[in-house]
Amino acid sequence: VIAPWEHGRNTMSSCTEYTMTRFLDSKRTVDDRALNKDVVGRLREELESASEPLQILEVGAGLGTMIARLVEWRILTRGHYTLLDMDPQLLIDSRTWLKDWAKQQGLEVTENASTLRLHGESLDLEVAFVEAELREYLGQPRSIRADLLIANAFLDLVDVSTVLPDLLQLVRKDGLYWFTINFDGHTLFQPGLPADDQFMQVYHQSMDDRTRDGFPAGDSQTGRHLFGALRSAGASLLASGSSDWVIFSQDGVYPGKESYFLHHILNTIDLELQRHAQIDPDALRPWIQTRHRQVDEGELVYLAHQLDFLGRVGG
Ligand SMILES: C[S@@+](CC[C@H](N)C(=O)[O-])C[C@H]1O[C@@H](n2cnc3c(N)ncnc32)[C@H](O)[C@@H]1O
Repeated sequence: VIAPWEHGRNTMSSCTEYTMTRFLDSKRTVDDRALNKDVVGRLREELESASEPLQILEVGAGLGTMIARLVEWRILTRGHYTLLDMDPQLLIDSRTWLKDWAKQQGLEVTENASTLRLHGESLDLEVAFVEAELREYLGQPRSIRADLLIANAFLDLVDVSTVLPDLLQLVRKDGLYWFTINFDGHTLFQPGLPADDQFMQVYHQSMDDRTRDGFPAGDSQTGRHLFGALRSAGASLLASGSSDWVIFSQDGVYPGKESYFLHHILNTIDLELQRHAQIDPDALRPWIQTRHRQVDEGELVYLAHQLDFLGRVGG
């Protein structure tokens, strides 16, 4: 049985289905490169003086690849890590993904119904899985007070202005937040095509118009708006910087599984644009085909502008 994230060469012909699990697995190396290293450095410094074990909560956590990153980057050694996501399939796949990763790292895994314990020479981490939609979760009384709250590639999917004050309540006084890969209004492809500007303008507008359960659920300029939203919510800012996704091939080959990542992004854009009356399907079809072909040939460069933030709550 092939794990959902293990597939062969990433040409369109082998891309038989697009799944969120495979996308988030392929996104890992993209984020590894993109995350702002000054902000990561400050996070490391702040955590060095924190008393362990740490209570960490990650919202919109997906597969939990951030755990792997923080362990491999030696930022996290002892703690309790809660992964919250509304997608039950992702949480199921997350267990398998984390167990596979732990084995590759030579870590021991102890599993029970609700948690995974990952342990090794310098690691002792208990991982818990919470299936919940964020707004519903925040609407119920919660005792969790995290030392560190993480949201990676997530806050641009919610209405920050209404969600942020309650979200920060999940952090203990003087605890940290680390909000990363917040989209900020620019998507660029190279080589440029005449339709790029119109298509991206409609795509970004669709993020601004998105709703979930009748509430706004997105903002194509989340990155820049977080400066004001964090200040209004009374959170301090210790570090910020850009975390752009920059994807390009070398000698025609993209790193890791990033060609799948590109095909998946193109497919997402395609499905969204097909829903908009102002987009001419006869213009969209060849544009998408060209972009997929450029991935297959290692020719496409893709950039998305994003921002990272680290700070304290009530500090
Ligand atoms: C772009 S993915 C990022 C996942 C992970 N943080 C990463 O970077 O690999 C966004 C995740 O947020 C989850 N999500 C989106 N809206 C949500 C909501 N309102 N409540 C809880 N989870 C949500 C999705 O299921 C998805 O796993």
